[in-house]
Amino acid sequence: MTSEQPPAVECVGLTHRYGDFTAVENLSLTIGAGEAFGLLGPNGAGKTTTIRVLNTLTPIQRGSVKIFGLDIASHAMDVRYNIGYVPQQLSIEAALSGRQNVAWFARLFDVPRAERAERVEQALESMDLLSVADRLASTYSGGMVRRLELAQALVNRPSLLVLDEPTVGLDPIARDSVWQVVTQMRETYGMTVLLTTHYMEEADALCDRVALMHKGQLQAVGTPDELKSELGVDSSLEDVFRHFAGADLTETEQNQRGMRNVRSSRRTA
Ligand SMILES: Nc1ncnc2c1ncn2[C@@H]1O[C@H](COP(=O)(O)OP(=O)(O)OP(=O)(O)O)[C@@H](O)[C@H]1O
Ligand SMILES: [Mg+2]
Repeated sequence: MTSEQPPAVECVGLTHRYGDFTAVENLSLTIGAGEAFGLLGPNGAGKTTTIRVLNTLTPIQRGSVKIFGLDIASHAMDVRYNIGYVPQQLSIEAALSGRQNVAWFARLFDVPRAERAERVEQALESMDLLSVADRLASTYSGGMVRRLELAQALVNRPSLLVLDEPTVGLDPIARDSVWQVVTQMRETYGMTVLLTTHYMEEADALCDRVALMHKGQLQAVGTPDELKSELGVDSSLEDVFRHFAGADLTETEQNQRGMRNVRSSRRTA
């Protein structure tokens, strides 16, 4: 990573409404190139909405977002080619084989024709799916489906890999193997990773920094250690989550404002 490299994500004042319901409110966030960044928050916090806007899949309504310096409003296709995305909802085509699913994405993302076959094989191999590549995806287990989606997301060698709850419903071994591959890809290709998860130990272990969202608003951003230590000795990331996403937020609003001040003064320093 060089200092001249633009951030992977530069999001300023992002607001998104569904009708008159505000799902994301005035969200500003910067993710450095090469970072592993976790977007955390309870159900309905606005994580998926945020991710879909960053991805250009949901049109941006208000605010500005740059991905590696490219404005998503004016460079949507360029941005899309830089991103690999594993959505929260399943995205594979059950009536195609594993290999066909990955090949379809390779075409979709304009992987050069001469490289396509090799890239598809590599993506399948990295997810340990070669032996089942010719089976219909409808016969895959949940963990295999998730790995297939990762193979799809990686086939265009994205600079930014976006994972929306990639390990939900997986057994502990399958979860580990997903993260091992992601870690390996980061090391090999220097990818930036933006992920959401409800497993706080995962976020703690994998993310350089995390952001806590609640009711569409950003509540805290920092390294897991920073956030934990701001809360007190022996705190876990789950305690941080509860602190910001607990039922009675109004009561803790004062604290949050306090924490935000601490952080902004730290950043200035
Ligand atoms: N297409 C839509 N139309 C109307 N409301 C929506 C739509 N998509 C999301 N919402 C609402 O916006 C809010 C944020 O949803 P979002 O999916 O971004 O949350 P999330 O943080 O990803 O939650 P989860 O952890 O459950 O995946 C929720 O209240 C949801 O009901
Ligand atoms: Mg979601």
